[in-house]
Amino acid sequence: MATSNAADFSSETDDVFARVAGRYDRLCDIFSFFIHRIWKSRMANRIADEQASLILDVASGTGDIPRRLQRILRTRPDRARPNRLLVTDLCPEMLSIARKKLGSGDRYLEYAQLDAHALNEIESDSVDLYSISFAMKICDRSRVLHEAMRVLKPGGMFYCLEAARIPNRYVHAAYLTYMDWCLPAIGWLAADGDNSTYDYLLRGIHDFPSQKLFADELRSHGFEDVSFENMTFGIVALHAARKPHRAQAPELHTEI
Ligand SMILES: C[S@@+](CC[C@H](N)C(=O)[O-])C[C@H]1O[C@@H](n2cnc3c(N)ncnc32)[C@H](O)[C@@H]1O
Repeated sequence: MATSNAADFSSETDDVFARVAGRYDRLCDIFSFFIHRIWKSRMANRIADEQASLILDVASGTGDIPRRLQRILRTRPDRARPNRLLVTDLCPEMLSIARKKLGSGDRYLEYAQLDAHALNEIESDSVDLYSISFAMKICDRSRVLHEAMRVLKPGGMFYCLEAARIPNRYVHAAYLTYMDWCLPAIGWLAADGDNSTYDYLLRGIHDFPSQKLFADELRSHGFEDVSFENMTFGIVALHAARKPHRAQAPELHTEI
C-alpha cells in the first residue's frame, strides 16, 4: 500500500527512540558531524522572529528546538516570549530528557505526550506556530499535515526542518552513496549494533520528497506562502508555510 511515511517507521512495532533516548544527542552529533546544531539554531531563530503566542513543537525528542528557542529568548530581550511553548513527543523517555535539559525555570514551558498523527488534546484553530524537526520523514506526512492544518489558527505558521535533496543530482547521488556506506559503519559503532537508528534515517533520506515536491504537498494540504531554505547544499531544508487567514469551514451564504 502506498504510504507517505518516507522511513516506513511505526512506533507500534519498534520502540527505537525509547531505546536510544539516553544517547540520542550524541548520535545526532555523530551522524551529522555536529552540523545539526547549526540547522536547528537557524530554525529556532526563524521561530523566535515570529513572536508567536502559542508554539507547538511536535516530536520534540530531547528538546533541541525548544532548548535553542529558550536560549534565544533569554539572551534577546527584543524577542517576546510565547505565552506557551508546548514540548511534545510520542516517546516518554525522550520527553523526560527534554524536561531535564530545559529545566523548570521558564513558566511558558509545558510538556505533553502527543502523537503527531492525532493531536487530540490540541484544540482546532488554537496554535500560532507549529514546528517539527527531523520527524516528518518517520511519520505519515499526510496525517501530520492534516493535523498541523487543523490545530493552527488561521494565519498561523508551520515550520518543518527535514532531510532534502541536493539540487545537483550527481552530487546528491554521491552524497547518498557516501551515506549508504558510512552511516551503517558509524551507526553500528555509535549505537552498539542497534541498526534501527540508522536504517530509518537512511530510508528517510532516500525517500523523503524533494524540497519542491514537499512544498507542493504543503500547498495541496491548503497551506499558502510556502517557501523553503536549503541548508548545507540542500542536505536539509527548512520549509515554512502559513495557514490561510480565511476561515477553513465553509461559510453560510444567505442571499437577500
Ligand atoms: C529523529 S527524532 C527528532 C527529535 C527532535 N525533533 C530533533 O530534531 O532532534 C524523532 C522524534 O519523533 C518522535 N516520534 C516518532 N513518531 C512520532 C509520532 N507519531 N508523534 C510524535 N512524535 C513521534 C520520536 O519519539 C523522536 O523523539
